[in-house]
Amino acid sequence: MEPATFVLFGATGDLAKRKIYPALFQLFVDQKLPSSFSLIGLGRRELSHETFRSNVEQSLITFSRSEVKDADVVKKFLRAFRYHVLDVDRKEDYTKLLQVIEEREEELNITPNRMFYLSVGPEFFETIAANIHESGLGSANGWKRLVIEKPFGHDLVSARKLNHKLNQAFDEAEIYRIDHYLGKPMVQQMGQLLHSALSEQDLRTRDIASIQISANETLGVEERAGYYDHAGAIRDMFQNHMLQLLMMLTIELPNRSAVEEVGKLKRKVMKTLKPLNKMDVSHHIVRGQYGAGEIKGGQVVGYTDEPGIALESQNDTFIAARLQVNDPFWKDTPIYIRTGKRLKEKVTRIVIEYKSRGPLKDLLIVEIGPNEGIFFQRSQSGQERSDIEMPVRSQLSFTKEGGKDAYETLIHDALIGDKTYFAHWDEVELSWEWVQPILDAYRENLTPLHIYPAGSYGPHEADELLERDGFHWWFDFKNVSNNDATKGDIHTYEYNT
Ligand SMILES: NC(=O)c1ccc[n+]([C@@H]2O[C@H](COP(=O)([O-])OP(=O)(O)OC[C@H]3O[C@@H](n4cnc5c(N)ncnc54)[C@H](OP(=O)(O)O)[C@@H]3O)[C@@H](O)[C@H]2O)c1
Repeated sequence: MEPATFVLFGATGDLAKRKIYPALFQLFVDQKLPSSFSLIGLGRRELSHETFRSNVEQSLITFSRSEVKDADVVKKFLRAFRYHVLDVDRKEDYTKLLQVIEEREEELNITPNRMFYLSVGPEFFETIAANIHESGLGSANGWKRLVIEKPFGHDLVSARKLNHKLNQAFDEAEIYRIDHYLGKPMVQQMGQLLHSALSEQDLRTRDIASIQISANETLGVEERAGYYDHAGAIRDMFQNHMLQLLMMLTIELPNRSAVEEVGKLKRKVMKTLKPLNKMDVSHHIVRGQYGAGEIKGGQVVGYTDEPGIALESQNDTFIAARLQVNDPFWKDTPIYIRTGKRLKEKVTRIVIEYKSRGPLKDLLIVEIGPNEGIFFQRSQSGQERSDIEMPVRSQLSFTKEGGKDAYETLIHDALIGDKTYFAHWDEVELSWEWVQPILDAYRENLTPLHIYPAGSYGPHEADELLERDGFHWWFDFKNVSNNDATKGDIHTYEYNT
């Protein structure tokens, strides 16, 4: 693996502590970091190198998935860490940073390969990229890469503008846009696993009646009011994570050849997605906001009573959508997506329902989180958790990478220059293009905002969206307590993955 300098903007922030340091530590333990590796942490606060290292160590103790018990290992890991004060707006700080980096590269005698990781608010992306360019930080004789977190733009116009600015400093090939759903082992292996599942169950020849993709959260807006009230479920989850799940699923079915490039296929999906017109949005989209209710036995306030949220806020905390991919395989298969906050249970799941003539329904279920696995289930419609008639639930596969955090995979991929599981600009732009009429309809109030009680499955209009087509959301157990785990006669067939 090539030597590299990891230049971390936002080194004192939450994401760095909770995700980036633990992921780097795990890569170090697994010997997946370059043997010559240097990290320069940046922030406005004045910190000594020692205090910085000790803060990083603390975050490993709190958040690392490997137990942090061998002091020598931690010490070796932290040897690579240095801290430098930088205010993103002060050009002279970048000049000093260049000196610091060059000194370290010289000391370690390494090629100036530099990975700039922007773990800061998106309002800083343009300024940082421009200053990297102007200061010469990006002109060394090695590779340079820019890693950025979502949100990538606020709408189609702002995303294009941001991308244009970034392209003045970095080529598309050098930009790594993190969508951490793409780093989840289950999402990456979904295609391969589904192919095993389909051939084993001889489902390939059956017709798919519908697809449902749900990402339900029990949490409310928490401490993110300032950001979330301007983003909503549509920008926070739908435009990026949910559409990426849709792309990953539909490119893998029915019979993707392994040699085809993932990015190219994903773009094809987005191009064949039937566009919406803002006047029609309310026929295909349900917009919701949580009211007061009960989560896990405790009373919770409604969205507009949350700290930092205006009483009159019309922001969406829930979206359900009906989509159609206009290609020969998918054209008759409705795809339903929903995501929201303060819902009854936390789960990310895809359900593929097969056409059937009788009362028995065949489902292929991809559990992405918190549990992982692919299941085949035969059930009576509406009785998927019934005590009387238990469905057959065959567990088809597990991923081998269980427990691995998405950031481990993605940071490693960025270090080795593999962009397969990062969002390409074309996908991001096509996603914004598809979503823009919804944003317009929301802004112009052409789509009603439905209030749903916290602890429910969202507004009942989201149920009606499916009922119109003769479907219902699977695994919505409206009269069952959250603690009642999925029941069913489970037969396990392990697959080689
Ligand atoms: N937290 C998460 O779980 C999460 C998940 C997904 C995406 N993200 C995205 O990741 C990014 C970072 O989020 P976060 O939660 O880590 O934010 P955060 O806790 O607020 O941290 C922000 C970081 O930016 C630095 N910073 C702020 N203003 C600066 C300036 N003018 N010059 C230099 N540094 C400055 C802060 O350091 P100083 O105060 O020392 O300057 C701090 O290290 C955001 O884009 C967010 O949307 C976060």
